[in-house]
Amino acid sequence: MDVGIIGAGRLGQAMARTAMRAGRSVVTANSRGPDSLTTVVSALGEGVSVGTAGEAASAGIVVVAVPWDRVSAAVQGLNWNGQVVIDATNDWTAEDLQGRTSSELVADLVAGARVVKAANTLSAEVLESDPQQAGGRRVIFISGDDADAKAEVVALFQNAGFAAIDLGDLATGGAMQQIHHPLAGVNLIRL
Ligand SMILES: NC(=O)c1ccc[n+]([C@@H]2O[C@H](COP(=O)([O-])OP(=O)(O)OC[C@H]3O[C@@H](n4cnc5c(N)ncnc54)[C@H](OP(=O)(O)O)[C@@H]3O)[C@@H](O)[C@H]2O)c1
Repeated sequence: MDVGIIGAGRLGQAMARTAMRAGRSVVTANSRGPDSLTTVVSALGEGVSVGTAGEAASAGIVVVAVPWDRVSAAVQGLNWNGQVVIDATNDWTAEDLQGRTSSELVADLVAGARVVKAANTLSAEVLESDPQQAGGRRVIFISGDDADAKAEVVALFQNAGFAAIDLGDLATGGAMQQIHHPLAGVNLIRL
């Protein structure tokens, strides 16, 4: 599956490099439109193109890589119809989510898509570096409510050289991956 990325900042570019490691084509988008991304895309190299958010959202796997307070605006009005959405965001606010995880809220915003939380626990710098380290593979944590969607995300990261660990559903695993929770910032190598 090709990868669309909404958000072309630090994390979006790190995910573009990860998808390229996995041999996938990438369409990247922001709110200012394709013309604003010419320099970014030429730095990323062949295999990455610019598009509108709608074009990025029509890929089989769509990464949401925008600041938490921009997520709603970034995904609003797009056509969500079975895509796998990787929620790579972190909610740094102290807002009360009323017992829900931030990825469950994202899933509500992209109803019709299948959300997998991934790529949010590592810094962009670590995520985009070679995942084959010290004779092993860097661990990427994933959570989600749809088994097939998780399999697609596991395949993406495994093809890029990572070792994936499935933590369960968005409520349980998603909670462990959130900021201020046990796996935030943890950089493990599976030997
Ligand atoms: N940086 C990290 O190390 C890191 C690590 C883990 C997770 N994360 C998470 O990843 C997310 C992005 O962080 P970042 O560091 O990459 O931020 P960033 O460098 O500020 O980039 C944000 C990107 O989102 C785009 N954007 C903002 N509003 C948008 C909208 N409405 N529609 C489409 N694109 C929009 C911005 O472009 P325009 O303003 O031009 O639209 C920009 O390309 C955050 O939720 C963060 O918590 C970041």
